Amino acid sequence: MSSILPLTLSNAYVKRRGKTLIGPIDLSIEAAELTIIIGPNGAGKTTLMRAMHGLQRLTSGVLEFACSIDDARQAQAFVPQNPIMMRRSLRNNLIYPLQLRGVSKSAANAQADDWAQRINLRHALDQSAPNLSGGEKQKVAVARALIREPELVFLDEPCANLDGHATRDIETMLLAERAARRTIVMSTHNLGQARRLATRVIFMLGGCVHETGRADAFFDAPQTPEAAAFLTGDIV
Ligand SMILES: Nc1ncnc2c1ncn2[C@@H]1O[C@H](COP(=O)(O)OP(=O)(O)OP(=O)(O)O)[C@@H](O)[C@H]1O
Ligand SMILES: [Mg+2]
Repeated sequence: MSSILPLTLSNAYVKRRGKTLIGPIDLSIEAAELTIIIGPNGAGKTTLMRAMHGLQRLTSGVLEFACSIDDARQAQAFVPQNPIMMRRSLRNNLIYPLQLRGVSKSAANAQADDWAQRINLRHALDQSAPNLSGGEKQKVAVARALIREPELVFLDEPCANLDGHATRDIETMLLAERAARRTIVMSTHNLGQARRLATRVIFMLGGCVHETGRADAFFDAPQTPEAAAFLTGDIV
């Protein structure tokens, strides 16, 4: 199948009860980029990702892919900030998306072993997934999204509340995905993480994209005083 990307938002707004949550937004997400969305609480990061993924309808404006919306939906995954585990073992949480695609049981099991190893949870494969710790669930949710190799993946603060080891496990997975040219869009409040992972940055403020560009240029020389202040830890 040809690529679903780029994704383009044109003059997009999400409003609730007359209040503008995000907009106007014009941006595109290109293939093989790891785009990090940063910005203060309430800036609209989650709403923007939900809108791009189709979980949140646009009040006005246009969301387009390089293919039909239905084909695009099939090829993308979204990991929310507080992921929900199926009431099954960790192994079954990992193999379920593969079984849906018709992968054989033995191949799915081999992949589950591999991904559990990558998130340092191989010892927990037979545990009940809902009983895993919050941080363990977050790792499983990211692995469960990546295991079926979607073309586009949204991650909403995947490392919030994670300790250093778990954060490193997730970053290691994401760096491998970046090297494999998977397209990823994720939000984070961890600027060190943004520097380590991003190829592009979207800095949101007040429901709008305040500044965007290549990650190296953005971090070296932000163009707006607000982005510069945010990067130095000032409240904006
Ligand atoms: N369902 C909703 N109804 C009304 N207002 C909402 C709704 N969802 C979000 N908002 C508002 O939209 C704005 C953007 O929220 P959003 O969750 O997108 O911000 P965020 O950048 O992800 O923040 P955080 O860093 O805290 O996760 C906030 O002012 C929030 O209160
Ligand atoms: Mg959010």
